[in-house]
Amino acid sequence: MNSAAESALPIEAQATPAPKTAPRVLSISSGKGGVGKTFISVHLAAHAAAQGKRVLLIDADLGLANVDVMLGLQTSGSILDLLSGDKTLDSLITPCKQGFDVLPGGSGLYELTNLNVNEQQIILDTLREAGQNYDLILIDTAAGIGDNVLYFSSASETALVVLTPDPTSLTDAYALIKVMSQQRDVRRFMVIVNQADEIDALITFKRLLSVSDRYLDVYLDYIGYLPQSAEVRKSIQRQTPLTHDGSDLSRHIEKLFDGLLARPRDHSRSAGLQFFWEHSLSSSLDDDDQPVPHEAGSQSAGVV
Ligand SMILES: Nc1ncnc2c1ncn2[C@@H]1O[C@H](COP(=O)(O)OP(=O)(O)OP(=O)(O)O)[C@@H](O)[C@H]1O
Ligand SMILES: [Mg+2]
Repeated sequence: MNSAAESALPIEAQATPAPKTAPRVLSISSGKGGVGKTFISVHLAAHAAAQGKRVLLIDADLGLANVDVMLGLQTSGSILDLLSGDKTLDSLITPCKQGFDVLPGGSGLYELTNLNVNEQQIILDTLREAGQNYDLILIDTAAGIGDNVLYFSSASETALVVLTPDPTSLTDAYALIKVMSQQRDVRRFMVIVNQADEIDALITFKRLLSVSDRYLDVYLDYIGYLPQSAEVRKSIQRQTPLTHDGSDLSRHIEKLFDGLLARPRDHSRSAGLQFFWEHSLSSSLDDDDQPVPHEAGSQSAGVV
């Protein structure tokens, strides 16, 4: 609308805000630990922020959090302070140089490794409120199939699974997808293979796909791969994320994340944070007494 037409509108109409859309909520998980979830979360957050998106990165690896370490961030507390009521969400959210906000998890805090239902409710309430300020919320989870991981991943619009070509990583990724689909009704997964070349990554993805197609009712969307690079390790050691410096690696990362962010939203799961966190909470209440089954690995024996 041009400014002349705009100024002809009554004040109320001019001031009407654009309808709010729910932020995209993406969890980053893996079966096996140490496969690159936090590296990918931090760089995806930085990439989306550089495109002008308002991004919140939640460090949900509660108990062993390290987003702040990777970013060299000074934080003033953790999610534990939120749960105890000692701090407000606003005072915990920490902006970083890369243009996005971080909600720090807590390191060495055993209390956070298994959130109870009340604690999940507190997180749900505060994030629902905070969600209005963001376009994209990334949730960097712990590895494995613990309760917190299932809670955060099933609360998301999209679950991104990271794995490496290592056979144990593949088997554990399959176990995660199996538990998420069978216990939490998550059907669509994005997949990134880290520390691989193009061919190994494709072979790894195809193995995961073939066993998932055979035994599970899920849809896997291959986003791509990240090569093994000494630059990744150096950036983690320097506690400074890689920048868009025109190097092969940075161009590769940009292309990978452009592809990810260009994926259409899953509107069947984007009805808003409220719905999903409550959905997740009720499913965790439903199976509160049921242990996570461990037979997942037996069926996945055929993965590798
Ligand atoms: N593409 C890569 N090239 C080289 N090294 C990598 C790459 N990606 C990850 N790493 C190495 O793997 C280590 C673990 O990475 P990161 O902390 O991101 O994994 P994670 O999955 O978040 O681990 P955790 O399960 O402990 O949370 C890094 O310290 C880094 O040395
Ligand atoms: Mg991590």
